[in-house]
Amino acid sequence: MEGTIPNPPNTRIAVVTGGNKGIGLEVCRQLAAAGITVVLTARDEKRGVAAVEKLREAGLSDVIFHQLEITDAPRSPSISRLTDFLKTRFGKLDILVNNAAIGGVEYVQDPVDSSLTSNEKFGGMDQLQRLEWMATAVRETYAAAREGLQTNYYGTKHVIEALLPLLQASSDGRIVNVSSEWGLLRLINNEELKQELNDNVEKLTEERLDEILDTFLNDFKAGEVEAHGWPKHFSAYKLSKVTLNAYSRILARRHPELRINCAHPGYVKTDMTLQSGLLTPEEGASNLVNVVLLPEGGPTGTFFALGQEAPFV
Ligand SMILES: NC(=O)c1ccc[n+]([C@@H]2O[C@H](COP(=O)([O-])OP(=O)(O)OC[C@H]3O[C@@H](n4cnc5c(N)ncnc54)[C@H](OP(=O)(O)O)[C@@H]3O)[C@@H](O)[C@H]2O)c1
Repeated sequence: MEGTIPNPPNTRIAVVTGGNKGIGLEVCRQLAAAGITVVLTARDEKRGVAAVEKLREAGLSDVIFHQLEITDAPRSPSISRLTDFLKTRFGKLDILVNNAAIGGVEYVQDPVDSSLTSNEKFGGMDQLQRLEWMATAVRETYAAAREGLQTNYYGTKHVIEALLPLLQASSDGRIVNVSSEWGLLRLINNEELKQELNDNVEKLTEERLDEILDTFLNDFKAGEVEAHGWPKHFSAYKLSKVTLNAYSRILARRHPELRINCAHPGYVKTDMTLQSGLLTPEEGASNLVNVVLLPEGGPTGTFFALGQEAPFV
């Protein structure tokens, strides 16, 4: 369902990964409402097409579906098909929002009582209590941790690598990597590593990030996550966002012609948080869209939390 709407020459083109639900769907809605042509991608065609229909019913006709499974790499046929489609159809890409991600944990129960709304269930709890509750609803397994890194870090990286030439063909190419406050370096209990990933970021390489992730996975397998200073809960998710932040900074230095930033949407009621968040998906998406739509020539290699510039630590 790749549509054939003719595009005026100055229309901006955006790709959103994981656009079928949650924050990603709302990012698509808000970008389309701002007059941008949105390629809503989803790994599942049925879910993606249904999401596009939903937006079209709301009057947003300039939204196109394209299938994208971000973890099919290396040389993912899914990523290649999207790249070829964009090349042929538009010859460029102006905005890439890397939103698709998973929790990197096994969800062991479906604890949200469907007879209760999220507010009824979590209304009396503060953020910490909600997060503590989340930790009881999941199990940290090696397989889930590995999949979390493969999706959130490597999958995102492969999408970026494939789409970079098209972003460079734009006069104002932008990447927003959807990150998290759970990707902040303060969560790592290892001063040397924190320094390497922050103060010495200009010396950092992608190979070193691979090494850090391999070491983390080995420690995970050996049951030594906390002993080696890695975060205790949702550790793979946190590491995937820590390394995504570091990779974004490497890329921003390498490609000054692009704006490459990381953005934390807030703690949002979505499937990922079992609806336990404090913000609606619309509010979370708006924190990202603010960064996407920053004026031309704005910051690059920067972390934004809730739409505001913030430190990586
Ligand atoms: N919710 C929060 O409080 C919160 C806080 C900080 C950061 N974030 C970040 O915000 C982003 C969106 O999260 P969300 O809360 O909206 O989660 P969500 O509702 O679970 O949505 C995740 C989206 O990613 C897609 N996805 C997962 N794996 C994929 C893959 N291999 N290939 C392609 N698509 C894939 C999912 O597709 P399916 O429907 O097919 O599974 C879904 O569309 C993520 O990057 C997350 O880390 C969320």
